[in-house]
Order: sequence, then C-alpha cells, then structure tokens
Amino acid sequence: MPTHQSLSGSTDEDLLQRMVDTHADRFGEAFWAFFASAVAPSLPPRPVVIDLGCGPALFLRDVGQRHPSAVLHGYDVTPAMIEYGRRLTGVSLNLVVHDVTAQPLPHAAGSVDLVAMSSMLHVVDEPMPVLAEVRRVLAPGGVFLLQDWVRQPLSVYLAWRRDVLKEPPAEAARRGYRLFPVHNKYTPDDWRWLLAEAGLPVREQTQLRPSHRIFVAGPGALRS
Ligand SMILES: C[S@@+](CC[C@H](N)C(=O)[O-])C[C@H]1O[C@@H](n2cnc3c(N)ncnc32)[C@H](O)[C@@H]1O
Repeated sequence: MPTHQSLSGSTDEDLLQRMVDTHADRFGEAFWAFFASAVAPSLPPRPVVIDLGCGPALFLRDVGQRHPSAVLHGYDVTPAMIEYGRRLTGVSLNLVVHDVTAQPLPHAAGSVDLVAMSSMLHVVDEPMPVLAEVRRVLAPGGVFLLQDWVRQPLSVYLAWRRDVLKEPPAEAARRGYRLFPVHNKYTPDDWRWLLAEAGLPVREQTQLRPSHRIFVAGPGALRS
C-alpha cells in the first residue's frame, strides 16, 4: 500500500519533522477545548487510549498530560515515528510499529475507551476493514475521534500550501498537484457516510481549519 510518504515524495524524516513542527498548531487551544467538551466526558477515570498512525506520538503525550491515569498505546507503520515517540520523556507510552491495514489490533474486543486517528485514514485504500477493527476494540460508549482532510477547491488547496505551509513555489507546485487527489479524496458527507456504514455513527463534529474536519463517533448499529 502506498503510504503518505511515498505519495508525497517526502522521506520519512521529512514527514516526521513536519508532524513535529506543525503539532502545536494542529492540536492547539481550540482542539483541546473541543476535546474537553466532546470527548473527555465519555472517558472513564482510567481510560485505555489508542492512536492509529500516531506519528511522533505527541497527541498521546498531550492526552497523558491531561489524563495522567490513561493507558496510552500508539501504532504507526513508520519506524522513525515510533523511535521519536519512544524518546519522549515525562509520559509512559506503549508504542509499536504496526500496519493497521495488515494486522488486527492487539486489543481485546470492547476494551478501548478512545481510538484516535489523525490525518491517516485518507491514505488507506480500503478503509472499511480498518474501521471494523476500530469498532471491534471500542468499549460500549467508547469514542472514535477521527480528524482528517476534507475536499477543497484546487485553487484554495494550492493557496493554502503557498500561504500557510509557506512552501517555495516550485515545491508547492510539485507537492501540491501530487497530493491534491490524496488530500481531497473525501467530502465531510463522505466521511459521515463511511462512518455510518462502518457502524460508527457521528455524534458530534467540528471544523477548526478549512482543510480538516473532526468527527466524534462511537459504536452504533451496523447498516445491513
Ligand atoms: C500525516 S501523518 C499523521 C501523524 C499523526 N497522527 C499526527 O497527526 O501528527 C500519517 C501517519 O500515518 C502513518 N501511517 C500511514 N499508513 C499507515 C498504516 N497502514 N498503518 C499505520 N500507520 C500508518 C504514517 O506513517 C504517518 O506517521
């Protein structure tokens, strides 16, 4: 399966550095205010949390700072991401190199309180088996927190790379045209439909950046 890295033409180290550099903007005050109102009230006192495609594990670190009793697991297919996360200090993280498209999650059915997935599911060719695993491991009343790209017009997407990412023109053109079909795969309605089909109906959602939408979903009835 082509990963985000091979599609973008970046190395693992480039993507790792980009995730680290942009983390504070992507997971800023507005994100944590939404998390506090839409996710935290559903968590038990000692929640089991897993992050799929966890990258450098900074989201898990931040969850651990807010919920010190949480048991935190991160999975990523890229060894450099997991190695970075293992060097983080001040928090206990269980980080494992794991391809979510190739192996089941090493968790019992109904044993996880929060599954997070940020900017990852859009690269998966066939999302349904991955979502079925998410639904399998979630506890009744558990939360699936999905944050991912939503479709934008080409002109808006290219302007975002130029003005927000501050990519030099040659790089913006190279990466922009290459990544446009990857980052603009799903509309918000497509994501909601996918989640409902997978038996993970959306309970709440928000959009803090034009490029990404955040969905709070949870186990519900499977559509036949
Ligand atoms: C754009 S990064 C996002 C990282 C992190 N979630 C964040 O928001 O900072 C996407 C991550 O998904 C990982 N990834 C891609 N395909 C994967 C797969 N099949 N299984 C596990 N991780 C995967 C990549 O290695 C990369 O670290």
